[in-house]
Amino acid sequence: MDDLRIGVIGAGGRGGLANYAHNPGKGSRLVAGVDVNPKALIKFKETYGEEVFVTDDYRKLLERKDIDTVFVTSPDFLHEEQTLAALEAGKAVYLEKPMAITIESCDRLLNTAMRTGSKLYLGHNMRHFPAILKMKEVIDSGIIGKVQNAWCRHFISYGGDAYFFNWNSERRFSTGLLLQKGAHDIDVIHWLAGGYTKSVVGMGMLSVYDKCERRDPSTPAGIPPWGWPPLSQKGLSPVIDVEDSSMIMMQLDNGVQASYLQCHYAPNAERNYTFIGTQGRVENIGDFGKCEIHVWTTRGNRAEPDIIHYLKPLEGSHGGSDRAIVQSFIDFVRFGAKTNTSPIAARNAVATGVLGHDSMRGDGGRRDIPQLPKNVIEYFENGQKK
Ligand SMILES: NC(=O)c1ccc[n+]([C@@H]2O[C@H](COP(=O)([O-])OP(=O)(O)OC[C@H]3O[C@@H](n4cnc5c(N)ncnc54)[C@H](O)[C@@H]3O)[C@@H](O)[C@H]2O)c1
Repeated sequence: MDDLRIGVIGAGGRGGLANYAHNPGKGSRLVAGVDVNPKALIKFKETYGEEVFVTDDYRKLLERKDIDTVFVTSPDFLHEEQTLAALEAGKAVYLEKPMAITIESCDRLLNTAMRTGSKLYLGHNMRHFPAILKMKEVIDSGIIGKVQNAWCRHFISYGGDAYFFNWNSERRFSTGLLLQKGAHDIDVIHWLAGGYTKSVVGMGMLSVYDKCERRDPSTPAGIPPWGWPPLSQKGLSPVIDVEDSSMIMMQLDNGVQASYLQCHYAPNAERNYTFIGTQGRVENIGDFGKCEIHVWTTRGNRAEPDIIHYLKPLEGSHGGSDRAIVQSFIDFVRFGAKTNTSPIAARNAVATGVLGHDSMRGDGGRRDIPQLPKNVIEYFENGQKK
């Protein structure tokens, strides 16, 4: 079988992930890059050779018949437009999370993938984090019984550097950080708890980054404003209308109750999940690199777990998950291999985030997640085979 010939839309930034797919003669190679930043295109040529095709217009890449696969690693608000066009052009797509920034956009992507038959893969790399896989293994073994509760505390130490100085800070580009960051965690909760959110309520506010010094609206975002404590950071976005602290509670369609707490001005960065079942509890200490999975299966007034699984760090970005997810995508496109990730799950994570924000920005009341038609769910659950 010939190599997949791959183009990257959004070659800078997260587009670096596609490097794991550059294995000429071994199944896939990068042959084209798109970016509106000329520096990203210069770097792309330096990395993959003078002969690669580069452009600032994604449509020119999609016109090419010698490209069969694309990575869409551009900012969230471009995902829908660029991925719809790629699917219509018959390309297989690796789309970064969040799938899109509205529920309607996600549903258009699902429907278009189904109608065209072009393969759609969602880049939820947390489904390849060793800590998440180990917790799933523990839960699936039955040792903690039937999961009833799922909680996630998400500490982010780099909020000002990553989300309050560029497009992420504006609802019109991101909807909110329950999508940009939360889509990962909501997806993990859904996956490990074995259900999708049926209804969600939310509370949240912006209370730290709105007090930081902003840059002039005529100045582009530029280099992230590193610094600590958060209130000392300067040069943040002129417009910030997303929350820096969000809390949502979810009821899943299988009866599991879940909560997710996200804070963007914490001193450390970690996602801490716990799943409580009818016979025990599992929790991660550390989310990538060297981490521990603690399991409690007996009753007692103590913090020490009954079992500790020690995980060794894996090489590569995001604790080895980026390499693994790219390989999974290549195997899915080439051989129809089964995937950990799912476009349906990615849509349901976005839907929960969108309606969580709607609740916290409105009356704080309960919002029900619109259900997908059965034929759409079946198409994706059956591996996108016509
Ligand atoms: N799964 C993960 O671990 C992970 C990590 C980081 C980012 N992401 C996701 O990756 C995506 C990109 O994030 P980022 O932080 O790299 O964003 P970014 O703002 O750095 O943009 C990525 C690249 O897209 C380019 N770009 C912007 N507009 C474009 C256009 N119209 N056409 C082509 N290219 C364009 C930018 O110049 C940049 O090089 C986001 O959706 C984000 O959620 C995922």
